Amino acid sequence: MRDVIVVGAGAMGRAWMDTIARRSDTRVSAIVDVMPGAAESAAGERGWDIPTLSSLDAALRLGADVVLNVTVPEAHVDVSSAALRAGIPVLSEKPVTPTVHEALALAALSRATGVLLAASQSRRHSAGIRAFKDALAGLGGAAQLHTRFFQNPRFGGFRDRMEHPLLVDMAIHSFDQARFLLDAEPASVYCEAFNPGWSWYRGAAAAEAVFRFDDGSRFSYSGSWCADGLTTSWNGEWRGSAAAGTATWDGEGEVLAQGRSGPVASAALDAEPEGLDAALDEFVAALDGGPAPSGEIHRNVWSVAMVEASVTSARRGALVSFAEVFAEARQAAIARADGEVADLLRAGDLPVG
Ligand SMILES: NC(=O)c1ccc[n+]([C@@H]2O[C@H](COP(=O)([O-])OP(=O)(O)OC[C@H]3O[C@@H](n4cnc5c(N)ncnc54)[C@H](O)[C@@H]3O)[C@@H](O)[C@H]2O)c1
Repeated sequence: MRDVIVVGAGAMGRAWMDTIARRSDTRVSAIVDVMPGAAESAAGERGWDIPTLSSLDAALRLGADVVLNVTVPEAHVDVSSAALRAGIPVLSEKPVTPTVHEALALAALSRATGVLLAASQSRRHSAGIRAFKDALAGLGGAAQLHTRFFQNPRFGGFRDRMEHPLLVDMAIHSFDQARFLLDAEPASVYCEAFNPGWSWYRGAAAAEAVFRFDDGSRFSYSGSWCADGLTTSWNGEWRGSAAAGTATWDGEGEVLAQGRSGPVASAALDAEPEGLDAALDEFVAALDGGPAPSGEIHRNVWSVAMVEASVTSARRGALVSFAEVFAEARQAAIARADGEVADLLRAGDLPVG
């Protein structure tokens, strides 16, 4: 049985509490939230008699096997750093950090302390995306990958006031899915972000981006958060073009593939864990000596970088290389670091790609 401290008792924190409780080998041992009453009400709703605290340090002193960081993105660095320094492995909600330089610093801290830190990217774990990836591999691997994400949420609140609500708050899901599907890392991006005249957001609610990956493949992203009518699924709609044919995924359960001739084949879906359950599965397996989780920080930093590079490209109106993004981020991280973390950053072997 592993004890898990859940930090952040908002909507997603509660979903994580239920995910942890579904397993027979994990349990929520304490809940932390800075908002008065939030941790208490989450525990109370579940009938749990466990410590509820407003201080992370006090919770860490109780000890645990895992910290689940489900705070708002701006708090991710402080919460994850404190847990790593206390020697407790961290599974963090996406984005693992808001910026690439913070992700590099956390990667170095994870390496310096020898404590695991991984992001949960729940949308790379579904039967549909796994079947789509297998279909593309069966056709020789996609050289052109497209997704269209068109949704129309009326959130209200902070997203309505962000400069880049779509790219910063949502697109990391599609970007991380593309890395998963291509099994490659991005090399450059050109992105235009804009706000359609009818948009109810202040910032750019729509974007068009083209990424070149290091294996020569291209990934194009077309997205909007202010698109009424004929909305896509929340995973978007996908198409991959490969040497031996084409595969599509509707973002839910339908994966189709066709070669140069012959019928359209519908792929079978597996019954493996999805979403948060799958992300926790990977993390627990890693603690048990299994492979590193797919969101381990040294690799997940590429998904953070896809967001940052897209925003930079949109601001400049120019193509941006990931080498440049990482070089600048490394300098920024070194300027803020000291000791072994600074030495590791200077060694320059981050990120792993
Ligand atoms: N994977 C997904 O599909 C998905 C969906 C929604 C949200 N998320 C992510 O989950 C995270 C949380 O989102 P949410 O919708 O639950 O937000 P939320 O605002 O509902 O909840 C966040 C909670 O964290 C608490 N908090 C903030 N700073 C804290 C700190 N330093 N220590 C302890 N508690 C702190 C807040 O008081 C709040 O209760 C975000 O990173 C978000 O991007 C992921």
